[in-house]
Amino acid sequence: MRRPPARLQRRVEDAQGAARGEGRVDGQVLRRGDRLQDRHQRHAGPRRLLADGRVRHGTVLPGGQARHGRRRHAGDPADHHRQGDGALSATTAGPAATDSRVALVTGGGSGLGEATACAFVAAGYRVVVADRDADGAARVAGALGPAALPVTADITDTAAVDAMVAAALAAFGRIDVLVNNAGLPVGDISAEITDERWASSLEVNLSGVMRCCRAAHPALTRSPDPAVVNISSLAGVTGMPGRASYSAAKAGVIGLTRALAVEWAPAGIRVNAVAPGYIRTAGFEARMMAARANRLSDMESWVPMGRLGTPQDVAAVVVFLASVGAAYITGQTLVVDGGAGVAART
Ligand SMILES: NC(=O)c1ccc[n+]([C@@H]2O[C@H](COP(=O)([O-])OP(=O)(O)OC[C@H]3O[C@@H](n4cnc5c(N)ncnc54)[C@H](O)[C@@H]3O)[C@@H](O)[C@H]2O)c1
Repeated sequence: MRRPPARLQRRVEDAQGAARGEGRVDGQVLRRGDRLQDRHQRHAGPRRLLADGRVRHGTVLPGGQARHGRRRHAGDPADHHRQGDGALSATTAGPAATDSRVALVTGGGSGLGEATACAFVAAGYRVVVADRDADGAARVAGALGPAALPVTADITDTAAVDAMVAAALAAFGRIDVLVNNAGLPVGDISAEITDERWASSLEVNLSGVMRCCRAAHPALTRSPDPAVVNISSLAGVTGMPGRASYSAAKAGVIGLTRALAVEWAPAGIRVNAVAPGYIRTAGFEARMMAARANRLSDMESWVPMGRLGTPQDVAAVVVFLASVGAAYITGQTLVVDGGAGVAART
């Protein structure tokens, strides 16, 4: 049997380890709940892999907020929006006019969704921060002030999605932009994946996107300049070992984006997708812990631009695609990956 190149083989093995709930970081073999003793701890305080797959940095404060000790770098674009890894800066919350555009962001309670909600408010939008994690949605919306509405909704539940749209309309009276960001990068052992695991991955990563588009469609048709931005992934563009269901679902998001763009163009609704590469969110770090043995520098070496992406790198592109500056763009997928996808093909 022909062996794949060593680097690819290691990625497959690590992804399979992640699917079994184990992983390695900087050479340590870890299981969920294990304490990390790595070089990041010097800067970020203790890190712990939580039961929900996320990494908790630093000390957990009453109310669930984390006190972060991560060293920040001058010029880091994240500094414009954050006070650490998770806390939004209140200074980003600009005054939103009561008739300003409204963006609904799913998965807005952390990571890319949090940064996107923040960027929309900074751009003068009102924003609905929707997430199945009620605490996350409340934390983000609370930091953004009256321009933001937290809504608890699981995108795998049709009734909850319909209620999410109803809550947005009750509070703000309109929806101009829908950002389908909520998603879960499921790790698979594709030769062994069960029907249930396959179905649940597609349920959140693909069907959830369709469900939110369908629910928001009537409100979008009433907007003077409506737009949908779906968050796909580099995995859906290039394929990714150890993530068959996720890659298939994210490729499906690109197909859904194209179909809706054509179907909804007569109603003036633009539909585009963003495919992020390696973006350093808390969710990403958890997955890296679970799936990779290697240091950040190892991952950075896959990126021609020499660094991992920030959530703000993606959020800025989402806000652009929602804006009138993108008025003649529809059905497209913009890859935001520092060149990683192009390098993978060369
Ligand atoms: N971070 C990356 O490197 C990266 C790369 C490519 C694509 N993406 C995609 O970007 C999106 C955000 O990723 P992230 O890294 O910020 O992840 P994250 O885990 O930090 O955030 C995802 C958010 O979605 C929410 N969520 C998950 N399932 C949900 C559901 N069923 N209903 C409602 N909310 C749900 C979670 O509670 C969480 O707040 C995902 O769609 C992910 O696939 C991320």
